[in-house]
Amino acid sequence: MSRRMYRSALVIGGIVAATALVGSTAASAAPGRPGEPRYGAGAEGAGDPYFPASGNGGIDVLHYDLDLDYTPPAAAPAPLEGQLSGVATIELTATQDLDQFNLDLRGLTATSVVVGKKSMSFTQSDGELVITPRPKLKAGESTTVTIAYGGTTTRPTDIEGALYGWVTTRDGAMVVSEPDGASTWYPVNDHPTDKATYSFEITVPEGKTAVANGLLVGSETADGKTTWTWDAPDPMASYLATATVGNFRLEQYTSASGVPIIDAIDITRSAGQVASLALTSDMISFFEERYGDYPFVSYGAIVDNDSVGYALETQTRSFFSSTAGESTVAHELAHQWMGDHVSPARWADIWLNEGWATYSSWIWLEERGSSTAQARFQTVMNRAPGHATWNTVVADPGPLGIFGTPVYDRGAATLHALRVKIGDDAFFDLAKEWVARFGGGTATTADFIALAEEISGQDLADFFDVWVYQPPKPTVW
Ligand code: TRP
Ligand code: ZN
Repeated sequence: MSRRMYRSALVIGGIVAATALVGSTAASAAPGRPGEPRYGAGAEGAGDPYFPASGNGGIDVLHYDLDLDYTPPAAAPAPLEGQLSGVATIELTATQDLDQFNLDLRGLTATSVVVGKKSMSFTQSDGELVITPRPKLKAGESTTVTIAYGGTTTRPTDIEGALYGWVTTRDGAMVVSEPDGASTWYPVNDHPTDKATYSFEITVPEGKTAVANGLLVGSETADGKTTWTWDAPDPMASYLATATVGNFRLEQYTSASGVPIIDAIDITRSAGQVASLALTSDMISFFEERYGDYPFVSYGAIVDNDSVGYALETQTRSFFSSTAGESTVAHELAHQWMGDHVSPARWADIWLNEGWATYSSWIWLEERGSSTAQARFQTVMNRAPGHATWNTVVADPGPLGIFGTPVYDRGAATLHALRVKIGDDAFFDLAKEWVARFGGGTATTADFIALAEEISGQDLADFFDVWVYQPPKPTVW
């Protein structure tokens, strides 16, 4: 029975049904007649077991407009601290009747919250900004929440101790927020299941460049400050948003297949450090043949002089620490389809990001005449049974394992083994259909297995059991 039919049955039931409902829910708060609002608080997390406080319940964000003003650290020997002040204008829809809801905001202080046109009371603690809208919001109701906020930026670290989020640098900031660091720079429903569109106006001292996602609308300088305006109209998971600030030169061109490219290269980078970016256009064509048309309005790289020690597939504008090497350039580009357009529904599903991105660089490097994907698969399979590759459930690596070797290498090996098992035609049909069907949203490991079975016509339960659900090294599949 559809939800709609169920609801009309209750209405037809009228008073009798209502009485029965009140009786049966006597212990719970806010009884009411069917169809009438039952206001409550949205959950303080999105329900992801790995990062329970990340994201929020009861809201669906449609758009973030981020108006930021950033002052990088003063010249050495001052500490690496910047000053950020922002106004976030957030369009959202209530997904339940709300008398309270949360956004994630860490290390920064909100100074005012307006819902609709009215100032609202709010509180802040433990990374949660708690807002009590009045009038209350009914399920399905859309509104605009405007939050003024700011504070001192530092160098936040993730659960493993890696730098992430808004990382203050000597010349600006590098902004890479996977998995739950977006709240270090804007108030956010910080979970991939709530994608939204973005627009940015980032004001920085004249001479600095602010680089965000999507297309550059323009820049304007007045009174020693430059405001950079970017527009990112493709739905985006919050961890993929960026607003990196530094001493960049922008290089703009169009790829062979027509994708506008905007690279931001730190002025200290040598030609050698960014040489592989010249392969971007060919790589886009290569992945388009296999995964379908490039999914977003633009692409490009940010190559910073400072390093978080890793690269990130920031949507439409991949981030590289210090150097953009060829396999990493291929990896982050492939993520635009695999991870950014189709995103993990829960962080436990991250092997679908990293396995695909790693495998994508294997097949690109094979195309270039380097080792074959089969040889790289064999290298992984040559690891002894006691190696870390074989101690993890790939489809549930734990919050400390999301960037571990098994997720990357065994994830890629899983895809190669699948390709050999179902054949090239089915495998690349699967890749294309995966992107076509789940692009713009999120998907789970179960979704992937179901689609692989649908497209190959094979029962793949045992295959995926040994490859992604059991830790030991697969021997038969
Ligand atoms: N997702 C990034 C990539 O594979 C990697 C990444 C994000 C990472 N955060 C990290 C790696 C922290 C190590 C530590 O492109
Ligand atoms: Zn990756």
